[in-house]
Amino acid sequence: MANLSPASALKSGFGVTQRKDSWWLQPLLVAFGLGNFGVYSTWAAFQGNNYEWGPYLSPFYSPLFLFKWWPLSPALLILWAPLGFRATCYYYRKSYYRAFFGDPPACAVGEFGEKKYSGETKFPFILQNLHRFFLYVAIFVIVVLWWDVFKAFWFDGKFGIGVGTLVMFFNTTFLSLYTFSCHSFRHLVGGKRDCFSCGKGAKTEYKVWSVVSMLNENHMLWAWISLTTVGLTDVYIRLCAMGVITDIRIF
Ligand code: FES
Repeated sequence: MANLSPASALKSGFGVTQRKDSWWLQPLLVAFGLGNFGVYSTWAAFQGNNYEWGPYLSPFYSPLFLFKWWPLSPALLILWAPLGFRATCYYYRKSYYRAFFGDPPACAVGEFGEKKYSGETKFPFILQNLHRFFLYVAIFVIVVLWWDVFKAFWFDGKFGIGVGTLVMFFNTTFLSLYTFSCHSFRHLVGGKRDCFSCGKGAKTEYKVWSVVSMLNENHMLWAWISLTTVGLTDVYIRLCAMGVITDIRIF
């Protein structure tokens, strides 16, 4: 590395770095993206209305649990699952530790506050280890979302395709790509094996693991695309339900 003087190498403090590139851009974009999604999804989840139109159901409200004893929005009964899955995701951890905690804001950049971070071995960060359990719930939610997509093809008992059908289809596709490219899923389907040529079913496991590994390479991409589509799907169905826009029937 060029021009490293001993004096500047000793400097420390938040944001202090010898990097010359725009290292701050990525945490800024992450804070903008996650911040906006957080504000919108919280607002939408607390509304408790306009979450369905015709055969369409907002993914924020699926699976839909309607109980007489629950006075609040039904979204609050389910959103903990996708929220917990995303919040404990290996990729998102890196992103929001940098964007919101500045801990550190980027590689080789001075961090915020004292160095108290002790890995994910103590409360509250030890809770991040719940990710693999959130994965099981997320897979269940994906199955339900595909059932919602199937139902979105039926208008008053007749087969049809509306713009909303396609919106739900693509959203669930991207959510599936995000879920099945998960690092924990990769471990589950074969990553835990020491030997891919030993034992029963090893070759099949290897094939599945290879496909998941391919998806896993773009986990960050699937994370952002699916975060965007899940928000936009709620917006689309909400606007239809409010009568602001009309769903166009393609078929
Ligand atoms: S690591 Fe991102 S969803 Fe599991």
